[in-house]
Formats: sequence, C-alpha cells, structure tokens
Amino acid sequence: MCGIVGVVGSKNSVTIIIDGLKKLEYRGYDSAGIALLENNQFRTVKEEGKIVQLEQALAQHKFSGEIAIGHTRWATHGAPSKENAHPHASSQVCVVHNGIIENHQELKAKLQKNGAQFLSETDTEVVPHLIEYHFAQTHDIKKSILAAAKEIHGTFALAVIFKGHQDLIAVAKRGSPLVLGMGKGENYVASDYYALSDHTNKIIALDDDEFALVLPNSVEVFDVEGKKVNKKVKTMEAEKNRVSKDGYDHFMLKEIYEQPRVLEETIQAYVDLSNSSIHLPNFGFDLKEINKITIVACGTSYYSGLCAKYLIEEIAGVEVEVDIASEFRYRSHPFRHDNLMIFVSQSGETADTLAALKYAKQNGQKILSIVNVAHSSMAQLSDAVIRTVAGPEIGVASTKAYTGQVAILSLFAVHLGVIKGKVDAKQKNILLQQLAESGLKMTHLFDQSKIKNIKKIAKSLTRARNLLYIGRGISQVTAFEAALKFRELSYINAQGIAAGELKHGTIALIDKKMPVVVIAPRNSQNDLFEKTLSNAQEVNARGGKIIFVSDREGIVQFGKMARKKIEIPKLDGVIQEAILPVISTQLLAYYVSLYKGNDVDQPRNLAKSVTVE
Ligand code: AGP
Repeated sequence: MCGIVGVVGSKNSVTIIIDGLKKLEYRGYDSAGIALLENNQFRTVKEEGKIVQLEQALAQHKFSGEIAIGHTRWATHGAPSKENAHPHASSQVCVVHNGIIENHQELKAKLQKNGAQFLSETDTEVVPHLIEYHFAQTHDIKKSILAAAKEIHGTFALAVIFKGHQDLIAVAKRGSPLVLGMGKGENYVASDYYALSDHTNKIIALDDDEFALVLPNSVEVFDVEGKKVNKKVKTMEAEKNRVSKDGYDHFMLKEIYEQPRVLEETIQAYVDLSNSSIHLPNFGFDLKEINKITIVACGTSYYSGLCAKYLIEEIAGVEVEVDIASEFRYRSHPFRHDNLMIFVSQSGETADTLAALKYAKQNGQKILSIVNVAHSSMAQLSDAVIRTVAGPEIGVASTKAYTGQVAILSLFAVHLGVIKGKVDAKQKNILLQQLAESGLKMTHLFDQSKIKNIKKIAKSLTRARNLLYIGRGISQVTAFEAALKFRELSYINAQGIAAGELKHGTIALIDKKMPVVVIAPRNSQNDLFEKTLSNAQEVNARGGKIIFVSDREGIVQFGKMARKKIEIPKLDGVIQEAILPVISTQLLAYYVSLYKGNDVDQPRNLAKSVTVE
C-alpha cells in the first residue's frame, strides 16, 4: 500500500504534490519521492523516511515544472531506501505505482533482453520500461498504456508522465483505488479524494480496468478496449475540518478521547431513544429471510466482527461465522442463499477485504458493508452500507473506528432480533439504554486518577519482552484486540488468549517475568467473572504478574493476587462488555508506546489502509 498523487498544468505543482503526499501518509511512510517534467527532462528527488525528509531535500532545489507526480511508500518489494523509492523511470517514461506487479520477474527478464537497465529491487520498475517498449511500437500513449496493462498480472494504480508530453498524465487502475480531481486550468490524480480536498471537490472515481488521459483542462476516461467511458463527476463533502489534533499530543490520544462522542453521534444518527426506534439504511433485501451471517474483515475490524458474533447470536439468535479476509477469499466457501455477507472496514479500501467482497458478490451473495469512509470502494460495491460515525481516523492504530463499528453492529443485532421476533419492545428499550449509557460510563475511564494509574502500569511494562491478555466470552475478543493494539504500538510480543484455553498449553509461558492482563468485567448479565477468576488464579499460582481489569467489587474480590489493577465501571449487558473494557487497554498501549519513544500515530512497518495483498 502506498499513496500516489499527480498534477498537470499547475504553477504550484511541488506544493500540491507535497500537501497531497502528507495527506496520504496513512497509506505508507517509509520513503517518498517526486518527479517533474522540466525542459523535457525528468527532475526526480527521492528520500528514505517521511514526507518531511523529502520536503527538506526539495528545499535545496528550484523547480518550475507544471506537471508532477509523487509517491509515499509502504515497501513490498525491496527495502525502504532512496533507490527503491518511487518514482521509477526509463529513458522516456516515469511512473508512480500503488499495488503489486505479481509477474515482475518475468517482465523484467523480457525487458532486460530488450536492453532495459534496472536500478532498484522493486516490482514497479518494470512498468516504465514496459510502457516505453510498447510506445516504441505504437508511438501512441493510449495504446502503450493498454498494451502494458494487458501484460501486467496484479494490482495497480498508476500515474505516468512522458517526455515530450508536457501537459499530460496517463493513469491506469486495477484493484488499487484511484480518483481524478477536476480543477480550474489544472487537474489532479490521487489514491483518494482526501489528498486533493484542498484543491477541488469535483471528483471522478475510476473503476477497475479503467484508464485516463489527464490534461490541464480535460480528462478522457477509457476502458481496456480504448473505448471512451462516460464518468459522473461527484461533488464531495468537505472533510478537512476534523483532521487536527485539537491540542492532543497525538491523533491516537485524541481519537481515544473522542469515543464517547462517537457513541453519542452513532445513536443520534440511527436511533430515536424517545420511542426506542432504530433507523438503519434500507438494505434492499428482507432481513427476515436471513438465517446465516458471515462477517469478513481484517485486523481490528475483524475483532469488531468477532464481537458481532457474540452480539448477534445472543440478541438475535442468528448463526454467525467470522473469518479473516486474507483466508476467506481463497477458501471454497459453501455460500447459502439465506446468508448475508457483512464486510467491516475503517478505510473501505483494504485489499483482502475488498477481494473477499468481490468473491462473495461473484457468488450472488447479499453484501452489507460497514465502513467509515463514505466514498470508499467497498461502499461503492455493496448492496447496502452502514456508515460508522467516527469521523476521519488518522492514527494508524484503530481505536474510535472500532468503537463505532461495535456500536453499529450492536444496533444491527437488536434490529435483527426485533425482525426475527427474538427481541420484544421491553428488551429493545433495555438494550438501547445499555448502549446509550456506555458513553457516560466511558467518560469515567478518562478520570485523572484512572489515567494516572494506567500511566504507572505502562511505565512498568516498557521493558517487558512478552505479555498475555486473557478473557472469556466477548472479553476474549477484547483480549485479542488489546493484544493487537499492544503489539502494533509497543513492538512487544503480546498475545490474546481465551482464558479457558490457557491451561491447554500457553500456560507454559507463565513465569515471574510474564505480565498477564486479565480482562474480568463483572457483568450483570453473565457469570463468566467467576470462571475468569479461577483462570487468573491458575496464572497467579505460577507466579505470573497479573494486571487485573475489573470493577471495584471485582478487584476487591480478586484481592491481593493482583499487584496492578485497572478499574472499569460495573457493566450491564453484552453490548457494554463489548464497548467499555477495551478503552483502558487502548490507553495502556498508547502510554507504553509513548514511554518507549515509539511513533504513536505512525508505528513502524504499518500503514492505515492496506491496499495490497
Ligand atoms: C488496526 O489498528 C490496524 N491499523 C489494522 O489491523 C486495521 O484494522 C486493518 O488493516 C483493517 O483495516 P480496515 O478497517 O481499514 O479494513
């Protein structure tokens, strides 16, 4: 996953590219580059590291080119370095690319036979040479782009500039997102609208196997046959007012503190508490006929899907299967006609989830997507979409989007329960109240004394080599999600384990050095607390360093066995158990990352939206 941006016909081409790349850094930030066409020469500057490093390097140069392409990278082929950073060029063609060229070895061998010299270890570098090879045959930009695309196996969003063509960017899309931006006397291309939101709100979203020639005052879109494609220009809503840190040190901390608002706005958007009515978008199919639900996603979104399994099975009594997208898309899944596919994604662009969605669609499934980005590819391809009301999430480690997803999936479970006759009006009202009260209870998790306590525990964990999270029922999912947050932020090996599963092997890891976070909320609606307590005692018996997460009474009941305690409110119902304890674990991961001096908002090796397989 990478971010690409381009502009043609602009006197501020460098500024527009740098602004755009900064907005695309969530897609990868290990190296970056820019190329302009000036006096028919490519002027290229590439740097390892973040856009700021590229900006500093650019300050040494003076540019006048009005056509430019830029790239921010998440390395797939070839380590992060200046040589492997994009753009990559042949003598006449220069490209930036987001995606993976699966047959790059084969193409490279063919092109080397044809005299091409390769300077990098990347898969992408075959593209400019391949386009130049076809251009030499056809002397036609359109034909050469189409011929090259025909030979490429894999995914791509490409922006291409040609010597001798001062006023044209050619683009190609298959699998990776790409939009065109319509300006006044200048036009743009980018991986997503957000990168262009300071310059235009007039957007054309390309579909797979669509291509375009972008000139300062016109755009021509065409298909694989070279036939013209009429595309609708969309006017986008302004998004930029919500992407500041609002005075917080990091986007992640701001986004953690925004979660009570996310709950409030989710309820405002989809519930009328005055008469306990739920207003989800029209699905275009009858939920009554649904007897099986299959939820597919990746990473943190997968864990909100796993929460939904507990919520939907308990509240609506409908069978739910949950799978990670990178496996589901290659499984020969016995699709049922009464099955509903639910895809969950913050970005709506995650390649594995997108491919799984296309696979289910090809098999005639009903597709519901829960996404945080309205105009994302998943939203465009789904029969029905429920938008999470979290606002733009900038921190790579997902927090408020998770809470937004779990809140939406809770509402969906109640809604389905009513339709299936499993939830009566009284129960519906109780469940909606429990969701509504989560927001208030959540604010108590931010009390100064609680933050002070979490900071102290975080300090004690900065030298940990390993860490375990355990829980039961829906708190098992909290343990999984907490461990993922801890791994991606602290770079410490943390595992989430079902508390009941510990004694079947993993307990062998327990010794005096192993911190074990026990997620043991006391919930008025289930008695898993006692069970989790006995598992914690098994850990304590082997000297494990327990950090006990429960309400005041639960902590008292566990007594002295827990050296460290994280207090959470007493919980009412499965929805509150899905939403509340995880917040304290987000804060723990945040402070450990902070005290270790890690990059909290852009942890190493990660990216916010994973647009490659
Ligand atoms: C979560 O903190 C990670 N950033 C990652 O696991 C993420 O949840 C995963 O890549 C899925 O992204 P999506 O929700 O945008 O599809």
